[in-house]
Amino acid sequence: MTATRRMAPPKRLIYGPGPSMIEPRAYEAMSQPLTGIRDPYFLNIIAEIQAGLREALGTMNAKTFPIPASGSGAMETAVGNFVRPGAKFLVFANGHFADRLAAMGTRQGARMTHCEKTWGEAFSAEEAEDAIARDRPEVVAFVQGETSTGVYQSGRAIAAAAHQAGALVIADCVTTLGAMPVEMDAVGIDVAYSCAQKGLSCPAGLSPVSVSSAAWEWLEKRAEDSMTWYFDLRLLAKYFEPPHIYHHTPSPPLFYAMHEALAAVEEEGLRQRFERHRRAGEQLASGLTKLGFEPLVKQPQDRLWHLMTVRPPSGVDEAKLRERLALLNVEIEQPRGNQLRPQAAAHQRRRGDAVADPRLERERQGDKGDR
Ligand SMILES: Cc1ncc(COP(=O)(O)O)c(C=O)c1O
Repeated sequence: MTATRRMAPPKRLIYGPGPSMIEPRAYEAMSQPLTGIRDPYFLNIIAEIQAGLREALGTMNAKTFPIPASGSGAMETAVGNFVRPGAKFLVFANGHFADRLAAMGTRQGARMTHCEKTWGEAFSAEEAEDAIARDRPEVVAFVQGETSTGVYQSGRAIAAAAHQAGALVIADCVTTLGAMPVEMDAVGIDVAYSCAQKGLSCPAGLSPVSVSSAAWEWLEKRAEDSMTWYFDLRLLAKYFEPPHIYHHTPSPPLFYAMHEALAAVEEEGLRQRFERHRRAGEQLASGLTKLGFEPLVKQPQDRLWHLMTVRPPSGVDEAKLRERLALLNVEIEQPRGNQLRPQAAAHQRRRGDAVADPRLERERQGDKGDR
């Protein structure tokens, strides 16, 4: 069957929390010719990706490169390299992905502590300072864009308090990179990891990791090997600098896609891109609120701009609503708990202001649209 039938995947409008719609340049790039892993052309593409990632992450870190995994692999890389067995590891837990970080810490044999917060709320500076003063952790982790709740947490107060206590700071930037400010150096993040398939609009499979010089020094001095070989940053890093020592076989199409996605970010301008997402998010929030949806994140300043979590109006069955959107080829995410997660459809609208898809608007007004 595979020999006789050509694939024809449906064209969806993917407005869930990830994957996002693919940047058209990234799609095209993936069909370009492959090179060897030390071909000067490919090494130059990698160097340009590293430069683009530094820009988007807001860092000067030399150790900035993509690893071969989705965001969870990058999370495992951060935890596996920087959380030693027996280390005291504090996770700021206000959502599903913070819980995943904590689960990974437990598997590494860390002494876990949690600072818990109601889902849908961000941590205040006082809460961060108190938790760190109380627990005296060696490593602290937080999620900058908690996809499961829609909360943004810059991490400034967490990082400042952690550094005062001599702790390393890990930040999950899976949902923020390319759509909202990460500002790794300004915030004081030691280890940031992200993904390809959200704010960068690439397919999943390569995930950026960036490590500060202080954290890298710590890693170089780590006495025992980390328990993971594939995600061992000390080994992985050797490929990204001369003499480019083989570690694993990279996938050129994914690197090409990331190169073009970062080129699109550079062309648009990071500030303009953030502004586009901010405006789109505000419009989506205001439109949905008018329709009777209730934002899960009560404080507008704590909301992610490009991902919104809402409770449907009473009497609206969210599963049926998603079914109707699916008939229009629009995908949004099913709830974790009692909320929906439509992403602000900003990447389709580089220059326009409208957020709601016209077909959604027609649907709202009773016209079933072009099915
Ligand atoms: C905040 C956050 N961290 C980690 C992950 C895991 O990433 P992946 O699904 O690419 O493994 C996700 C995925 O949605 C996420 O939103």
